[in-house]
Amino acid sequence: MIVLGIETSCDETGISVIRFHQKGWEILSNEVFSQIKIHAKYGGVYPLLAKREHQKKLPLVFQRALKKAKISEKEIELIGVVTGPGLEPCLWQGIIFTQKISQNFSIPVVEVNHIEAHIIVNFIEKNFYFLNSQLPKLMPAISLVVSGGHTQLILMEEIGKYRLIGETRDDAAGECFDKVARILGFEYPGGPAIAKLAESKLKSLKYNIKLPRPMIHQKNYDFSFSGLKTAVLYDFKSRPKKERQSKEYKIEMAREVQEAIVDVLVSKTLKAAKEFKVRSVILGGGVAANDRLRKEFELQLKALSLNFFVPPKKFCTDNGAMVAFSAFFHRKRATKNWQEITAQANLRI
Ligand code: KG4
Ligand code: ZN
Repeated sequence: MIVLGIETSCDETGISVIRFHQKGWEILSNEVFSQIKIHAKYGGVYPLLAKREHQKKLPLVFQRALKKAKISEKEIELIGVVTGPGLEPCLWQGIIFTQKISQNFSIPVVEVNHIEAHIIVNFIEKNFYFLNSQLPKLMPAISLVVSGGHTQLILMEEIGKYRLIGETRDDAAGECFDKVARILGFEYPGGPAIAKLAESKLKSLKYNIKLPRPMIHQKNYDFSFSGLKTAVLYDFKSRPKKERQSKEYKIEMAREVQEAIVDVLVSKTLKAAKEFKVRSVILGGGVAANDRLRKEFELQLKALSLNFFVPPKKFCTDNGAMVAFSAFFHRKRATKNWQEITAQANLRI
């Protein structure tokens, strides 16, 4: 079965073709057009600009994905499209494009939840044998989905069976990276810029920056990152211009903010893993590409003898492969009533 996946929920136009066969699957193409350059100067995603870019780029990305996969439109047997959560004008672009292909070639469509796709993509490099025989032994699991728009802890019983146990009350972890980067003078997206800065060498620590770890000791599984950003802003403003513009200050701040975010994410996830007696921890979303976060989870979960899944970095940020992959697992709910597909900006898992 040849499955097309379409992702336009935020600032990435992603289209992928995956061929599923009896023994496994092959990713025939995974094309992503990133709008990073367009949004860089705004410090975040500007929804109407993003919508316009999706509209412009979808036909090109689609043609590129087909060409690379060496298939024609007629060979597509199923389309997965993200219908939420995400930016509504952007979601609609992917949906309208899907509706046209579905109508023209009579192809059934599966509506895909963006958050679930970030979770399921963890298994994209495994084989069918693994999924059929090993996956049940690895459940239940706690999934942490951390991106520019979401920070959610999800208890997973199996593919398709989830319970949201906590989420951010204000900013997402990725949004915090982005806002802090902006304060320090870096362009969107801030996560990779902060991570790179935090890796830079320093002879000694001069500024002794201490940031809060919001909600880390609270009993619930919710998060809050807007206070952390405010704490960075206070510290930044309290320093003389020369000091706050120095490379050393920026490196120390990047390290501390990354540590604060990693501490909170790891601590709350492990607390949930223990309470719900899970067998595995699963990461997903753009922030899961963060090396410091990946390493800390690896270390702590090894000590607890829990399984750890994190996607290859290219599958952490938004892409079409995660959508095609999710659509395949939910192929039973495919529909040819393409007129009825609508965007659900606040869709829950
Ligand atoms: O999943 P994603 O591509 O889009 C959303 O669904 O939001 O995530 C994008 C977010 C941005 O906030 C970006 O700064 C963050 O992921 N990000 C990172 C890293 N790479 C991307 N954050 C921390 N460290 C990284 N290496
Ligand atoms: Zn995402």
